[in-house]
Amino acid sequence: MGAERGANMPGVLCVGCKAPLKRAVPGEAVKRTAEIVSLRKTGNSIEYYVHYKGFNKRLDEWIGEDLLDLSNEEAVEYPKKKKQPGKGKKDEKKDRKEGTESILLQKLPLEEELAAEDAYKVKNIHSVEMGGCTVNAWYFSPYPPSLARKKHVLVCEYCLFYFAAPGQLERHRGSVCKLNRPPGVQIYRKEGLSFFELDGQAHSNYCRNLSLLSKLFLDHKTLYYDVDVFLFYVMCVYDPETPEEEREYKIVGYFSKEKESQHGYNVACILILPQYQRRGYGRILIDFSYLLSKRERVAASPEKPLSDLGLLSYRQYWVEKITDILVRAKSISINAIKDVSSITTEDIVHTLRTHNMLMFYKGTPAFILKEEVLRKHEKSHRAPKLDPAFLIWDPPYQH
Ligand code: ACO
Ligand code: ZN
Repeated sequence: MGAERGANMPGVLCVGCKAPLKRAVPGEAVKRTAEIVSLRKTGNSIEYYVHYKGFNKRLDEWIGEDLLDLSNEEAVEYPKKKKQPGKGKKDEKKDRKEGTESILLQKLPLEEELAAEDAYKVKNIHSVEMGGCTVNAWYFSPYPPSLARKKHVLVCEYCLFYFAAPGQLERHRGSVCKLNRPPGVQIYRKEGLSFFELDGQAHSNYCRNLSLLSKLFLDHKTLYYDVDVFLFYVMCVYDPETPEEEREYKIVGYFSKEKESQHGYNVACILILPQYQRRGYGRILIDFSYLLSKRERVAASPEKPLSDLGLLSYRQYWVEKITDILVRAKSISINAIKDVSSITTEDIVHTLRTHNMLMFYKGTPAFILKEEVLRKHEKSHRAPKLDPAFLIWDPPYQH
């Protein structure tokens, strides 16, 4: 006998069950295993909200039973049976006797009726439309239920307020919202790239809207409803050919930063909107966070844990930055790398070790620049760079 039969009725899939997909996803050699996170009824059938084992939660989705391979009993795993509070053996026996799919179907909630404590596990918004561009949501975000029911959110690209219908957004843009840039202070502007600093307390509406929007793409952190304790740095693009008074500054991404971080973090949450990802903007935004730390005369690090994409991007940024410093300097210490970059000693040493760039020669540290690292450095060297001379900013909170 293989897997133990479930907490629910025998043979009926329930939350916690794991089953392989019938077919491998194109481009993947091995079939994914789907773990059931939630169930809902749609008409007369059941749909399963599944998480794919070993894959990021942004791929979680609703699927029908027809996609699951239930032909091999041994391959289907049922959760260990938990005694249900208030249920005696008699009730459980009765449940089992009546254990048919039709009964399960009657008992299932509609998606909008999911218990509050479970609701956040399931993506509530399918897609978000902003500035004429539509992207799929990755994770749950606590938008009002009335809006989430529509599954598609329209967001004003300047104040980030959210709407259910295009007409509402049009009216908003036509008569209510006069913004053509984020509120707050413009602290950097050069060659089509600009940064705005916003105080979470002074611009609470915008910062809450930004947090709601970013939660659609950020899962590993709690959403901070209390935006008061954060500063927000919003990165925008603009057309440098347009006269300043007519310019529109479009948000590309942002990071939040605690006004006073006990742990020396210079970033709390960081996001590049999906439509702008993998174009080098993440590098620039991370670089900007270190530029601020440099002005503050501190070495700093992003808040942990990092997401999978956050880790990839930071690792890449650190190795590129450190290589750049090593290529320019004839002789330099780790301490001096820290002073030049504002990257913490811990992150520097970790990066050097990961890329086998650190050796000890008769007890003295020596840096090694491998061909592969140099090749990547050459490529990143050609990417657009921030110009520190264009940062008009004094640290608002001195350490
Ligand atoms: N796959 C593989 N490598 C990647 C990926 C990816 N999807 N994304 C970034 N990288 C690595 C690559 O090495 C890339 O360099 P390359 O394109 O030359 O190969 C490098 O990171 C920099 O890439 P960028 O294009 O500059 O990064 P991007 O603009 O896509 O932004 C970011 C990166 C901000 C992490 C973005 O993916 C994002 O917003 N993700 C969702 C939110 C998130 O996870 N934020 C980080 C949370 S951690 C925290 O908040 C402290
Ligand atoms: Zn608006």
